[in-house]
Amino acid sequence: MIPYGRQNITEEDIQAVVDTLKSDYLTQGPKILEFEIAFAEYIGCKYAVAVANGTAALHLNTLALGVKPGDKVITTPITFAASANCVRYCGGEVIFSDIDPETFLLDIHAVRKLLEESPKGTYQGIIPVDFAGRAVDLEAFRALADDFGCWIIEDSCHSPGGYFIDSNGNKQHCGNGNFADLAIFSFHPVKHIASGEGGMITTNNEGLYQKLLMLRTHGIVKSNELYTNSISFAGGHDSYPLWYMEMQGLGYNYRITDFQAALGLSQLKRADEGLIRRREIAAVYEESFQGKSFVKGQSGVVEGHAYHLYVLEVENRLGLYNYLREHQIFAQIHYIPIHLMPYYRQFGWKEGDMPRAENYYKHCISLPMYPTMSDEQQEFVIKAIVDFYAK
Ligand SMILES: Cc1ncc(COP(=O)(O)O)c(C=O)c1O
Repeated sequence: MIPYGRQNITEEDIQAVVDTLKSDYLTQGPKILEFEIAFAEYIGCKYAVAVANGTAALHLNTLALGVKPGDKVITTPITFAASANCVRYCGGEVIFSDIDPETFLLDIHAVRKLLEESPKGTYQGIIPVDFAGRAVDLEAFRALADDFGCWIIEDSCHSPGGYFIDSNGNKQHCGNGNFADLAIFSFHPVKHIASGEGGMITTNNEGLYQKLLMLRTHGIVKSNELYTNSISFAGGHDSYPLWYMEMQGLGYNYRITDFQAALGLSQLKRADEGLIRRREIAAVYEESFQGKSFVKGQSGVVEGHAYHLYVLEVENRLGLYNYLREHQIFAQIHYIPIHLMPYYRQFGWKEGDMPRAENYYKHCISLPMYPTMSDEQQEFVIKAIVDFYAK
């Protein structure tokens, strides 16, 4: 059986988890901070906050940015539902904007048009997604967002290690906080770094960082400098007693456990290795499908692409999908456009609203892509696809 993606757990990973299980902390221990520091260094940002999963990371972002009922936030329909749902959790309105058919990413020209058509202040934020692992040009999005007073959350779940080249010729790594206010990652098993469930928020903004720490743990702070109740109320004489803490806002329990953080930390050490292998696999796919008449589009070889997914756009996608399954190859479809999910249709979204995303959905198929896929397995996948269209 060849899945579209899978985790790679080594003996070292297992040992890291076992060591933590045998330690004093199962949660709220030292591994979480260690993971955050190592991840921030890997991504190249100042602050990282580890959380329970990528969806929790998105929710904390919209909370920290103060999304409220009536706020309008723009995102792409070709992403996992959570990229949009985080706006709804805070009562905001999701405004979908179409994709660029070449990159499969949110089309900045369509977003600009949307912003220009309404008075400034109509939209509060933009959530671009590094879909499939291809980095969004956030420098361009930042300039646009600044013109219209919008914040940016970069959904980098697919792109740890990915980058784009900025106007000065420098590499800008996904989630590095140079352009987006906040970025998020997921450590679901099919992602580059797996911790079972898990997520990370990255930012260069200290104020948002402090807010996120508080929101992650019930809105509770434990810091003498931040307390607002008096020392005498707290039960101390000259200083706050050691047990004292304050709940200063309405937060959640979105913490990751220490043994998950230990697994994430161990996986992080091999992140670059995995990325190299993903890029090798992509190059072989690209070469194999180049110029084939049944291929309408493909992820291709793109500098800085992190290849969470390798997408082909084909004719007779249903036939190919079923044929691959018969051969124990479990390709996947990413994604059913979110604006046409029954939940979002209730807000008036309908077929024809996002023609490029809808056309993409008719043809897309994600091929197996994971670092432990062998050359032989990849050859088997490619041969099966070529054989199907030769029939
Ligand atoms: C683009 C994108 N955003 C958000 C998420 C949510 O992450 P999680 O599954 O960790 O909640 C995912 C993961 O499935 C994703 O692919």
